[in-house]
Amino acid sequence: MRVPIVAGNWKMHMSSGEAEQLARGIVGSLDGAAGVEIVVCPSFTVLDRVRNVLGDCLVKLGAQNLHWADEGAFTGEVSAGMLLTCGCEYVILGHSERRAWFGETDTTVNQRLRAALSAALKPIVCVGETLEERQSGATERVVRRQVTAGFANVSATEAAGCVVAYEPVWAIGTGMTATPLQAESVHTSIRRVLRELYNDNVARDVRIQYGGSVKPDNAAELFTRPNIDGGLIGGASLEPDSFAAIVKAALQPEI
Ligand code: 13P
Repeated sequence: MRVPIVAGNWKMHMSSGEAEQLARGIVGSLDGAAGVEIVVCPSFTVLDRVRNVLGDCLVKLGAQNLHWADEGAFTGEVSAGMLLTCGCEYVILGHSERRAWFGETDTTVNQRLRAALSAALKPIVCVGETLEERQSGATERVVRRQVTAGFANVSATEAAGCVVAYEPVWAIGTGMTATPLQAESVHTSIRRVLRELYNDNVARDVRIQYGGSVKPDNAAELFTRPNIDGGLIGGASLEPDSFAAIVKAALQPEI
């Protein structure tokens, strides 16, 4: 039985004071919400402050990226070890904004994934097609390539502990959510790829989040699909009430 996971990707938002306030708001609205794993992923500069606010409440801390080296001359990068010392348990990898603007490829996503796993950080691996790719019928092929290359040289045991986030690029920040049927169909095909790469257990155990314009009013219909195990939330995670409403939607029984 997969426990749904809802993660807030704060992206490049929130100064220190704002981040602290947002974290307080989230703790206030969510502490005690059992049955769903909750993660917040602030920017590197405020991880420490947010960790202090979270204390030992149920909300977990994640980062938005990492570099695969342990340390070295990599200006502007942050290692897995650094994230661990900030209290991170999760890390988002291969977000489409990293792929589109910062030259991330399936190969570098795989390097980051393996570094995260070696450090015992739990990865949230993002995949998803552009609008052009969807319109040309390439969605399944693109996502299959991203999953296959992203998980290269990752063992079945390691893979089973990963989270995959299906985020169609055309749905991110646009208000254009994938329909529950569209999302469910891609989630099912991701499980098929995991079954081919590994086995039935991995395909069954990996949690697959949906991300892309998830809001309080559309979360429940997405999360009640059998293969959608919660969401990766951008804009709506920056406001405690809307994030809390989305978390609660993940508690609904499957239909
Ligand atoms: P929005 O929820 O703002 O569309 O962002 C989704 C996302 O990119 C989460 O990683």
